[in-house]
Amino acid sequence: AETTVVIIGAGPAGMSLANFLQRRGVDCVVLEARDRAYVEGRQRAGIIDHRAEQIFAEFGLAEQVAGGAPLETSLEIRVDGVPRLIDVPELSGGRPSRLVPQQLMVQRLIRSFLDGGGDLRFEARDVTPHGLDGDRPRVTYQGGELSCSYVAGCDGFHGVSRRSIPEEELTTYSFDHGIGWYTVLADCPAPRYPLMAVSRHGFAAQFARGPHASRFYLQYRPGEDPRQWPDEHTWDELRLRLGDEMLPAGRITGREVVDMRSFVAEPMAYGRMFLVGDAAHIITPMGAKGMNLAIADAYLLARAIVAAERDGDAAGLAAYSPACLRRTWDYQEFSRWYAEMVHFAGDDSEPFRRRLALARLDRLFDSPAAGAAFADLMAGTEVTLG
Ligand code: APR
Repeated sequence: AETTVVIIGAGPAGMSLANFLQRRGVDCVVLEARDRAYVEGRQRAGIIDHRAEQIFAEFGLAEQVAGGAPLETSLEIRVDGVPRLIDVPELSGGRPSRLVPQQLMVQRLIRSFLDGGGDLRFEARDVTPHGLDGDRPRVTYQGGELSCSYVAGCDGFHGVSRRSIPEEELTTYSFDHGIGWYTVLADCPAPRYPLMAVSRHGFAAQFARGPHASRFYLQYRPGEDPRQWPDEHTWDELRLRLGDEMLPAGRITGREVVDMRSFVAEPMAYGRMFLVGDAAHIITPMGAKGMNLAIADAYLLARAIVAAERDGDAAGLAAYSPACLRRTWDYQEFSRWYAEMVHFAGDDSEPFRRRLALARLDRLFDSPAAGAAFADLMAGTEVTLG
């Protein structure tokens, strides 16, 4: 069988791209290794930034994807028990993000694509791209084969796409931030504002998951295994770090350990294959940019493919990788800057770094220019192929 684009992976990257191409009348087939319940249930990212919402709007998809989702509010950063609010939507000139859990976004994108007659094949085993450096690549999987003009590798960090590129063609960068988070989901009323707490006891955060549940994050120290913590200890630590003795202990319904790491592969293209989203880069959760980078990549690739197919203009395809990498590194820097600020500010083992991190926090609150620069990145920077 033939199609124009084979999309490998039906996560945020793959389903964004599939919908963008469908809306512009470009044929594509999505091959996903897992079943529908798995991809629709995967809880990870939770914020569509203002820029990403504008991208969906350009394709008439904003209502489907973000309709009814709560808007971002002020953010509370509690420094040694003293609350400080930062009004991100105001500082960005009225460009609030939306709180949309990843699984909800993926569910909505899958429904929209299928309603539009899209071809999405779940449980596709042994997906393998061939002939990527030729004019007509093929993608095989158990029981099927597709020939196409372009392959979009949207299959996440562990996918097959990046691994199909000869090693000597890629430069990869990995960075371990040396920070571990223990995260618990609990039946505990949502905080008034999304809350991050910085103190000598270590970083902690509390975010709403609906009105009656919260997701908490606690930094743990190297060598510790927080999965062994009794729940009572977790609640004691949260009360201490959040500076809230009254925080009610609720039932803990999920526990997970998150290690903060970053990864970038360059270039994001090989022959007729283009890497999109986590297949090319992973970023820490600080700043909530992972899913938004995936959406921006998908947008640029859709524009480049449409220009090549409709107008015979291949310039966008050549510009894809450099344009995406430029944003990726910009966001990696932002995420690292943010992580250093809230983690080092509570770390007594390095007093000089702690003072620098506290100075960075002060600047964020005291300087309108610094606040605006922060809010601009939170809202999402411009997405162009130029
Ligand atoms: N063949 C087909 N599909 C595959 C294969 C394969 N060999 N390997 C992986 N997949 C599928 C996975 O099952 C998953 O559904 O590709 C999809 C990749 O999705 P993600 O890992 O979510 O990556 P991406 O779409 O790039 O989204 C990145 O979402 O989860 C967040 O933190 C992440 O915010 C970032 C963004």
